[in-house]
Amino acid sequence: MQPAEVEHRMRKNPFSLGSGDIPLCDRQTELKSFIRHAQNGQNVLVFGSRRVGKTMLIREVQRYLARQGYIVIFCDLFGVVSIEDISARICRAIFELTHKHEPLHKKAIRALSTFRPNMRPTSDGMGISFSVEKTSSEIGINVLEQTFADLASFLEQSQEKMHIVFDEFQEITEVEKGVQVQGVMRKYIQNMCASFFFVGSRKRILTKMFHNRSKPFFQSTFDYELASLPQQDCISYIKERFQSADKTIHAKEAELIFRLVAGNPYYLQKLCHILFDHVQDRVQDQDEVHAAFNRLLEAEKGYVETTIDSLTPRQRALMNALAMEKTKNIFAQEYMKKHNLGSLGGIQQSLEALSKNDLISKQDDTWQVIDPIIQAWLKEKFFVY
Ligand SMILES: Nc1ncnc2c1ncn2[C@@H]1O[C@H](COP(=O)(O)OP(=O)(O)OP(=O)(O)O)[C@@H](O)[C@H]1O
Ligand SMILES: [Mg+2]
Repeated sequence: MQPAEVEHRMRKNPFSLGSGDIPLCDRQTELKSFIRHAQNGQNVLVFGSRRVGKTMLIREVQRYLARQGYIVIFCDLFGVVSIEDISARICRAIFELTHKHEPLHKKAIRALSTFRPNMRPTSDGMGISFSVEKTSSEIGINVLEQTFADLASFLEQSQEKMHIVFDEFQEITEVEKGVQVQGVMRKYIQNMCASFFFVGSRKRILTKMFHNRSKPFFQSTFDYELASLPQQDCISYIKERFQSADKTIHAKEAELIFRLVAGNPYYLQKLCHILFDHVQDRVQDQDEVHAAFNRLLEAEKGYVETTIDSLTPRQRALMNALAMEKTKNIFAQEYMKKHNLGSLGGIQQSLEALSKNDLISKQDDTWQVIDPIIQAWLKEKFFVY
């Protein structure tokens, strides 16, 4: 191998899908507002489409708050299966956070009566793996009641400033007695001296939970919808990140990346990661970006296929139509005919189902496919069924 090639291979790729080791692009306004709300003890709802950067931003908020002396608890509710599972995850998040602070950890163990921690060294001996074991004889909703009552007393005893995040919060609607679960949570949360952030990607479900008069969380939060990243910030970010690892990309190619991924931060990282690895010292031209984008499309093929396969033929037809041509009026005769969309009633049903599943949305008064990679697949590769 030539020395130049060795050097090229050794340069660490500055684009990554992990959170924590890469700087944030943009989001400074949201960061400041979120920190202010947390400091003021307010509760916040953050929603936005898949992979728009919600978790990374909230983790950044918590890193800042932790440096300010807050206890920060991050509870991921993805795939939660039961009421007891919600309680277990809350306790686990608290034990995991406190185990490095002995006095606080002891307080947590004393305060939380529903679960106790089980800590074991990981097989490589480098860390600790956590699980929790149920200790309470209560079952179902009573476990959750008890867990929240314990959390409230832990908060009171510890006298610490606390920030608690529930990520993928919409998942609690999936468990049995979902509304009752929300009722219990709301009852305790509104009296606790802490800031709670509720985060998730299912806009329809979350807005129903927080904007519907009949639901327990009605009007209890400051609400933020996180949008895709803005063009100028993306261009500067891409240029700076390339430069930080001694490679060059010009604004024209960076702008093309922005357009291809429609400002979606996850795809931006992934596309830039692929591109960075394939160029020597600089991105020569737009063809190199297109070649990297094709690799990205291939890499995402499985995800796109699974998504499209789950749709009915009518829904697929509407997705295809919107991928080919965004529109202000799906029901215009010309549009329906051009894209062979069938009857008005059928379109209405598909529209409802696709919106409910956050696959399409109306932005700036125009209907479109949300995910830029699904959109590109449908438009450029066009699945034939
Ligand atoms: N502001 C940002 N600047 C740079 N990269 C970002 C930014 N936000 C997110 N990313 C990148 O996108 C990836 C996905 O972000 P994140 O997991 O926060 O999205 P999410 O909205 O929580 O996704 P999901 O809907 O799957 O929960 C991150 O791991 C990171 O690589
Ligand atoms: Mg997330």
